Amino acid sequence: MAHHEQSPTPGRSPIAFVIFGVTGDLTHRKLLPALYELHREGRLTAPLYIIGFARRDWSDEVLRDSLKAGIYEYARTKPVNEHIVEDLLSRAHYVRSSFDEDDGYVRLNQMLESLGVCNVMYYLATPPASYEDIIVRLGKYKVTECTDNWVRLVVEKPYGRDLESARELEAVIHSVFNEGQIFRIDHYLGKETVQNILVLRFANGIFEPLWNRNYVDGIQITVAETVGVGSRAGYYDTAGVIRDMFQNHLLQLIGLTAMEAPVVFNADKVRDEKVKVLEAMRPMRGKSALENTYRAQYVAGMVDGVRVPGYKDEQGVPPDSITETYMAARIFIDNWRWAGVPFYVRCGKRLGARVTEIVIQFKQPPLRMFDWQDMGGAAPNQLILNIQPNEGITLTFGAKNQRPRTQIAPVRMQFSYQEAFGAEPPEAYERLLLDCLVGDATLFTRSDEVLTAWEFTEDILKVWQQEKVKNLPIYEAGTWGPTGADDFIKRDDWSWRNTTETKPG
Ligand code: BG6
Repeated sequence: MAHHEQSPTPGRSPIAFVIFGVTGDLTHRKLLPALYELHREGRLTAPLYIIGFARRDWSDEVLRDSLKAGIYEYARTKPVNEHIVEDLLSRAHYVRSSFDEDDGYVRLNQMLESLGVCNVMYYLATPPASYEDIIVRLGKYKVTECTDNWVRLVVEKPYGRDLESARELEAVIHSVFNEGQIFRIDHYLGKETVQNILVLRFANGIFEPLWNRNYVDGIQITVAETVGVGSRAGYYDTAGVIRDMFQNHLLQLIGLTAMEAPVVFNADKVRDEKVKVLEAMRPMRGKSALENTYRAQYVAGMVDGVRVPGYKDEQGVPPDSITETYMAARIFIDNWRWAGVPFYVRCGKRLGARVTEIVIQFKQPPLRMFDWQDMGGAAPNQLILNIQPNEGITLTFGAKNQRPRTQIAPVRMQFSYQEAFGAEPPEAYERLLLDCLVGDATLFTRSDEVLTAWEFTEDILKVWQQEKVKNLPIYEAGTWGPTGADDFIKRDDWSWRNTTETKPG
């Protein structure tokens, strides 16, 4: 695509993409389909060896068949080009080993040596319980980085389950890799429309002057999913929506929406500004955590015309689970730009639609001169950033309708990615994997960012744990959440923007 044409490339020297946990879902659904798209578009300028590392008794052949199946099922562009798949997978090899077996790492090194590769990207696509086993062994056996080659580590979420475990993980990783080698993935940052938040704000002259407490009344961020916990109950029940979505994706969206313009657009300057936002978020301690958050769990209901079970009836969820699948929060950012402006955020599973959006709501004009009677009150100007689906941006405002008396109707100006660029945006992983190969960490979370996000989240978690709710509020699957969450925001004379727009298919 034209707007990528100038992007840096991974160079020409061969690269080994070593995937720990290659037999898992992430490799299948995300990593290989993304590598396939990159190869199809000619972005893998260096020969890329895919080295799978896992316990199962697989051979190179079995590995290739499995990766191929993943590509055919999950590739973004169809039909899949067989030659490209064959070419990509012709350099796929398998190392069979458990993660705590030194010998496996010795064999991995022998393989890298025989292939003549010294640029190595180690990718942790395993459950977090295996991270330490792997990293400690990489400490002994990883390829050494020098001036002629690079060695990087990619870490998936969850990055710790609270502040302490995140710090421990940091210590382990930093004993082996330096910060410049570590790429912590938050796949929301790879979404085109999430990156567009910064382009909208800082590549245009008209929005930024209004983007502050003088003109903005409040901001609303929704990350709603229609899916339930699926097959991940074991993990999800110990995490809840606060660890699964809020600590990472949601706080990242707040960071990008609220940050100051970086001095230059590079990894450290962008991340410096995001960290400042996280640091300025007013901590929620004690009573204030209860006043400013709301949690709930879904019960059975209808999603897309299908009856779905309640959370407690999902496979693998304890029947007495009090894990929250929905949360809302009111957050204040105590800095010069945002003092006093509420950020209402919510995220959850099994909601009424799959939608991620950021709504910037502007203040009303100082005088009310016109008759808004048809609308039941003046509609505020909103700038809606549709992150997914229906990627685009909408501005709502009032216009005179065609009646003799001056009456006003709410109308909208709309930009759609699909219409403007004629294609759906690429998958987040395509961008992120290319960035790791190129060594650009702008879209990855830095150490201090993860820890600050945990600090903020941990305050809420602590209070929630102390105040174990006996009757966790519930909401029916397929609805927009519990009525209590509506009351939560109504206190401030606000309401959630519940869109029913869903993408066909
Ligand atoms: C993941 C969460 O990080 O993000 C999942 O672990 C969630 O629970 C997913 O479903 C949502 O991602 P997306 O890209 O579908 O919005």
